[in-house]
Amino acid sequence: MMNKVVLITGGARRIGAETANYLHSKGMNILITYSKSASAARALKKSLNSKREKSCEIYRVEFKSNLNYKKVTNDILKIFGRIDYLINNASKFYPTKINDVSEKVWLDTIDTNIKAPLFLSKHLFSELKKRKGAIINIIDIHVEPPLKDHIIYNISKAGLLALTRSLAKDLAPHIRVNGVSPGAIMWPESDSSKKKKLDIISKIPMRSTGEPLDIAKAIFFLLNSAPYITGQNINVDGGRRLNM
Ligand SMILES: NC(=O)c1ccc[n+]([C@@H]2O[C@H](COP(=O)([O-])OP(=O)(O)OC[C@H]3O[C@@H](n4cnc5c(N)ncnc54)[C@H](OP(=O)(O)O)[C@@H]3O)[C@@H](O)[C@H]2O)c1
Repeated sequence: MMNKVVLITGGARRIGAETANYLHSKGMNILITYSKSASAARALKKSLNSKREKSCEIYRVEFKSNLNYKKVTNDILKIFGRIDYLINNASKFYPTKINDVSEKVWLDTIDTNIKAPLFLSKHLFSELKKRKGAIINIIDIHVEPPLKDHIIYNISKAGLLALTRSLAKDLAPHIRVNGVSPGAIMWPESDSSKKKKLDIISKIPMRSTGEPLDIAKAIFFLLNSAPYITGQNINVDGGRRLNM
């Protein structure tokens, strides 16, 4: 995987940062996008570049309506001069009950969770084709059945699964497109109810949450060892889907 460049959206923290660290340890060069987490992004860049010179770059972008994706991808392509893999990891996740549904929440979530993966795929298509690359969309085990009180998030991740399958068909045989769906890996930062956490863990056959590294390893497998896998969605959930 030497000299391959992987673009990870929202990669400054949490699962995205762990994925960056892991893929970097396998020899890839890392380009992460960040929006608000500037200091975490800079720290990750410093840490990876101290292990291998010029192996990590960062790019600030907020995925919002009317974003000029052509300019963004042109900028991104200039950084290393190539992109081999795209990992659509950036995501919005918060509850929306029916009375909370609004234009603002709709756009905030849909722009991040579906539009960015689609438009980045569109504008990176010819580059990824040239590199015989791959796209990984980070979805969620809650595409089905849906998570209660998360109407717009559920729609966004179900759409991301549909996007994964559509792109796998349309971009074959040049680019493989797969999904990785985390179960309970890292609790949302806003969610502190211990009872809720214990309740979720009691329904996981493996009896614990997963680690960000579990997601990173599934991504690496799909990128590195799965030339005949496309259009799939791998649940990394300790068996949680068996009890949903
Ligand atoms: N954590 C879990 O257990 C779990 C479970 C199921 C699915 N997942 C999925 O796994 C992926 C990673 O999970 P996570 O918990 O690590 O994610 P996260 O912390 O919720 O979000 C990752 C990053 O997305 C970026 N982001 C959000 N909105 C953005 C926007 N409009 N424009 C640009 N960047 C934006 C943020 O970057 P900045 O901080 O730079 O603003 C954020 O750090 C996500 O796709 C998530 O849906 C996670």
